Amino acid sequence: MIDLKVDFSNILGFVDKNKVDALQAELNLSHQKVLNKTGEGNDFLGWVDLPESLEESLLQSIEKDAARISKIADIFVVIGIGGSYLGARAVNEALSHQFSHFLRSEKRQHPHIVFAGNNLSEDYLADLIDVLDQKDYAMAVISKSGTTTEPAIAFRILREHIEKKYGKEEARNRIIAITDKEKGVLKKLSLDEGYSSYVVPDDIGGRYSVLTPVGLLPIAVAGFDIRKMILGAKAMRKVCIANAAISSNPAASYAAARTALYRNGKTTEIMVGYQPSLVFFVEWWKQLYGESEGKQNRGIFPAGVTFTADLHSMGQYIQQGLRILFETVISVEKPRRYLSVPMDKENLDGLNFTAGKRISEVNRQAELGTLLAHVDGGVPNIIVNVPVIDENIIGQLVYFFEFACALSGYMLEVNPFDQPGVEAYKKNMFALLGKPGYEKQAAELKARL
Ligand code: PA5
Repeated sequence: MIDLKVDFSNILGFVDKNKVDALQAELNLSHQKVLNKTGEGNDFLGWVDLPESLEESLLQSIEKDAARISKIADIFVVIGIGGSYLGARAVNEALSHQFSHFLRSEKRQHPHIVFAGNNLSEDYLADLIDVLDQKDYAMAVISKSGTTTEPAIAFRILREHIEKKYGKEEARNRIIAITDKEKGVLKKLSLDEGYSSYVVPDDIGGRYSVLTPVGLLPIAVAGFDIRKMILGAKAMRKVCIANAAISSNPAASYAAARTALYRNGKTTEIMVGYQPSLVFFVEWWKQLYGESEGKQNRGIFPAGVTFTADLHSMGQYIQQGLRILFETVISVEKPRRYLSVPMDKENLDGLNFTAGKRISEVNRQAELGTLLAHVDGGVPNIIVNVPVIDENIIGQLVYFFEFACALSGYMLEVNPFDQPGVEAYKKNMFALLGKPGYEKQAAELKARL
């Protein structure tokens, strides 16, 4: 059973219902392309059946490694960028105690997850090393290609650090590599060094890899139940693959709503969360949709905000700026914790009208008030309703957004599984850094700087 519901009734003042319904034929075609593997990028559709095809031996091995790491490490450093990073961070931050790093270590049974290799900031890495000097740690290096500069540099530095700290032999126990099954320097290194290693399947691109070891290992190390997450994804898959009906397939419904809006001039989609714990889920979604759709001078620009914080910043633009926006709200019915507003005899702040109400009830009314204000201001809203944030729902959300992304990409007539545009900055960076073979480009670039 799935618990996620898409409600696009709040876009209907902006696009006619029949315009949305008219997309059914295109959706059916896109759906067939995904299931029959007949569309562009069809060699990257391994994620479609992944929830059903994950082998028990793989899950056991991940759980075993996670338990082993929990015993020897206070910190687990996950080195990776883009799709080799954002899924794990999205899920861990959505599910974690938000201040776990301040809790005393005996209150934490699992390592604290930190990320590296997702930037080229010297300060970030040096600050991280200050902490790793003092704490026991282990790490995973994740790169499908094994050649991405940011994680490769971070790994070079942290590998040297971990080997100095524990000695080469013990360092081997503390490093896990997740990469291609045979290609790339990382594969060679992990074989040479005898690191525990996992494979990123050939037919799954980074941003669709949350349910591979890329996401599952760090999520398991953080102490979350990867099996519940997979169950959620399985349930969502069943509904998504059954048919492309806008009325029954939530991914089709979301893809239809956002495509109808895009074709009506709403070219920026803002993903809205009302929970700070969802900030990185929104970042993951931005990458998934930005890299999948933004090509051939087309595509919805994916942006993200966290309310109510951003109602005091971006809220102004959303209410009254350029009318090219629509919002997709992840609406969470129930919080995990309990806290209500206390009664105050003095009532100096005048807030006794909220006394006894749960914070989540105040948040809910902020959400409803914002929905009405933004729709009145010219910003259509799609609502993705979920009952709570837990492993099962996260599994549903991940699969739902992946499936909808593939459908939307095919409706946009782009290949949703490649990212050719990412190469441009890399080539320039290599040339400017003096990589052998880039001499001509380096001279041209330097003349322009
Ligand atoms: O989604 C993608 O394919 C990309 O974002 C990649 O994950 C990212 O570029 C990192 O690549 P790699 O895993 O090869 O280091």
